Amino acid sequence: MTEKNILCIGAGYVGGPTMAMIAAKCPQCRVTVVDIDPERIAAWNSDNLPIYEPGLDELVRVSRGKNLFFSTDIERGIRENDLIFVSVNTPTKSFGLGAGLAADLQYWEKTARQILGFSKSAKIVIEKSTLPVKTALAMERILNSGDNAIRFDVLSNPEFLAEGSAVRDLENPDRVLIGSRETEEGLRARGILADIFAQWVPRERILTSNIWSSELSKLVANAFLAQRISSINAVSALCEKTEANVVEVARAVGMDSRIGSKFMNASIGFGGSCFKKDILNLVYLCRSYGLTEVADYWEMVIRINDYQQERFIQGMLGAMFNTLAGKKIALFGFAFKADTGDTRESPAIYIARRLIEERALVVVTDPQALKNARRDLSGNEGVSYVEDPYSAAAGCHALAVMTEWGIYQALDFQRIYDSMEKPAFIFDGRNILDHRACFEIGFNVYPLGKPPLTHF
Ligand code: NAD
Ligand code: UDX
Repeated sequence: MTEKNILCIGAGYVGGPTMAMIAAKCPQCRVTVVDIDPERIAAWNSDNLPIYEPGLDELVRVSRGKNLFFSTDIERGIRENDLIFVSVNTPTKSFGLGAGLAADLQYWEKTARQILGFSKSAKIVIEKSTLPVKTALAMERILNSGDNAIRFDVLSNPEFLAEGSAVRDLENPDRVLIGSRETEEGLRARGILADIFAQWVPRERILTSNIWSSELSKLVANAFLAQRISSINAVSALCEKTEANVVEVARAVGMDSRIGSKFMNASIGFGGSCFKKDILNLVYLCRSYGLTEVADYWEMVIRINDYQQERFIQGMLGAMFNTLAGKKIALFGFAFKADTGDTRESPAIYIARRLIEERALVVVTDPQALKNARRDLSGNEGVSYVEDPYSAAAGCHALAVMTEWGIYQALDFQRIYDSMEKPAFIFDGRNILDHRACFEIGFNVYPLGKPPLTHF
């Protein structure tokens, strides 16, 4: 592969790790990551990276300052690089037409205009952000609206990494997807990008497709994954009524090789910056094409997720004698999943707010996410933040597991029980604790989708 100058616009959870992997695997490439947020760029250039991700510190250290650079100079970045990944945020729109459903493409469009404004030579522009189908058409129209004769080719290369395992996912992806126009130039651009990934990804895992299939596949992959979680969460409600055990059901069902065992853990609901936003985006797209039934079908995945969170609160209320007022409740974990400090759309935010509404006193503990938790719950009284889980639980009436951090399984629950108010309750929103052992210590234990173990 010949030398390449690569730019990524957007130094977030995707842009940073993805570019660090490309720089590490392609030492002949020069990779620059730019962002409008100077604090974020300063953090990428420091020993305290802006995101927590296992293995990321080491990965960045290998290349930073050699062939990996973080900068705020977007104009120079665009001028000096031929391949431009765009990895800016595409949140759910909060205003105007499509509010609450459609993707907010303002950051995306601003980037397109910057690329047009600052380019002096031909560019390959790569959609890394998750976008509605047909966004590449809008990108092409903006890029071709200038009166200079610069050639722009737009590719779609959606990212499938999950937070908490980003480095592993990037190093060994199930597949890399590259969509392009099926013109001579589009296929050429596709080939250039494929050659970069082929430096470490086996060719048979580098999939190519037409550009609309590529854009749509990303939304559909997330919708299918989230649908599995909503399916098992719906079943957890039925298990609680019937004395079936959702873990046993998931195991029995998942051993059917046609179904598979992954993404079958019942939980307080899925969080994260992607699932909800991408399904809402899919729902909006279907509605805008007049596909009402298809939109309703996917919307139910979100409704079950909301239901599961409210069901959890109602379970707590029912078990704790229908009042939480004045009771101290420790939330074990605040991140939307383990191994990340990210709390975007974390079910813990909803649970904490509902507990506050019920006038409970909330104590939040998490090994990585307390900074974000403070921001998410700012303005709420009656919440405290404690790093140490033992101190967080002391004096509480109940503890509720929000995040499946491995450290919670290794805690000394006898010590925790001794420090709590009695009767002491555990609500395990992730089914990660040893429920029988906790019950034998004296706790009243409420797992998800399994019969409770109580002393009443
Ligand atoms: P993020 O919010 O962490 O990062 C986006 C960055 O873009 C921010 O730092 C922001 O300052 C920057 N930015 C916005 N406008 C800019 C501009 N005009 N110029 C330069 N920088 C600009 O978002 P993220 O989680 O990295 O997600 C980025 C995209 O990737 C989204 O479309 C998301 O759906 C998709 N995605 C995310 C994940 C994930 O796990 N987080 C996984 C796959 C795909
Ligand atoms: C997801 C997709 O997995 C990834 O491919 C895409 O690129 C971005 O969106 P992410 O949101 O980072 O990744 O994490 P993921 O592991 O998918 O978990 C999402 C949520 O589902 C978390 O809150 C997690 O705890 C929850 N979950 C996951 C369950 O409740 N049960 C499961 O069985 C699996």
